[in-house]
Amino acid sequence: MRAVVVYESMFGNTRQIAEAVAEGIGERMDVEVMRVDLSTELKTHTIDLLVVGAPTHAWGLPRTNTRKGSLEYIRKSRGDLRLEPGADALPGVREWLSTVGSLGASGAAFDTRLRAPAFMTGRAAKAIAIGLERHSLSLVAPPESFIVDRQHHLIVGELERARKWGTYLKDQTLDRAGVDH
Ligand SMILES: Cc1cc2nc3c(=O)[nH]c(=O)nc-3n(C[C@H](O)[C@H](O)[C@H](O)COP(=O)(O)O)c2cc1C
Repeated sequence: MRAVVVYESMFGNTRQIAEAVAEGIGERMDVEVMRVDLSTELKTHTIDLLVVGAPTHAWGLPRTNTRKGSLEYIRKSRGDLRLEPGADALPGVREWLSTVGSLGASGAAFDTRLRAPAFMTGRAAKAIAIGLERHSLSLVAPPESFIVDRQHHLIVGELERARKWGTYLKDQTLDRAGVDH
C-alpha cells in the first residue's frame, strides 16, 4: 500500500513534522514526503493514504500576503529562522486544495501552530480537513496540531508525537482495508 505526505513549510517545522509522520507510516506502507508545489502531478488514484500539512498563518491556511509576512519574522530572528527551499513557490496547500481532483483515498490533515488554545491561534488543519473531504477523501483521524514555541521552534516531544500519529494513521488505513498489522 502507498502513502504520500504533502506539506507546505516556510521555516521547516511543518516539513519536520511531515517527515516524522512519514516515519510512523513507513513501518508498514511505502511512503513518500512531497513539497506541495512539487506534487501537482501526483497520481492520486494510486494512493491509499494521503496526509496534508501546513503552518497556521493568520488563524488559517497561508495566503500570498502571510507567506510574504514570514520574511519579516526571519529578518527579525537575526539568523535563528531560515526560509525553506521553495517556501514561496506556488501552489501552497490553499491553492492546491482548490485545484486537486477527486482523491478517493483515506487521509488526514495536520498543522503546526503556536502553543495556546485553538480558539485563539486558529488551526490550518481544520481548513485542510474540510478541503480534503470536499475532494472525497475519507478522514481516518481528526485534524491534528503540532506545537511551536514563541521563537517558532517545535517544542520537545512533538516529533515523537508526530511519529506515533503516523503509526496510528497507518493502522487505521490498514484496518479499513482489512489488512492485518
Ligand atoms: C505570517 C505568520 C502568521 C502566523 N500566524 C499564526 C496564527 O495565526 N496562529 C498560530 O498559532 N501561529 C501562527 N504563526 C506561527 C506558525 O504557525 C508557526 O511558526 C509554524 O510552525 C510555522 O511553520 P513552518 O516552519 O512550517 O513554516 C504564524 C507565523 C507566520 C510566519
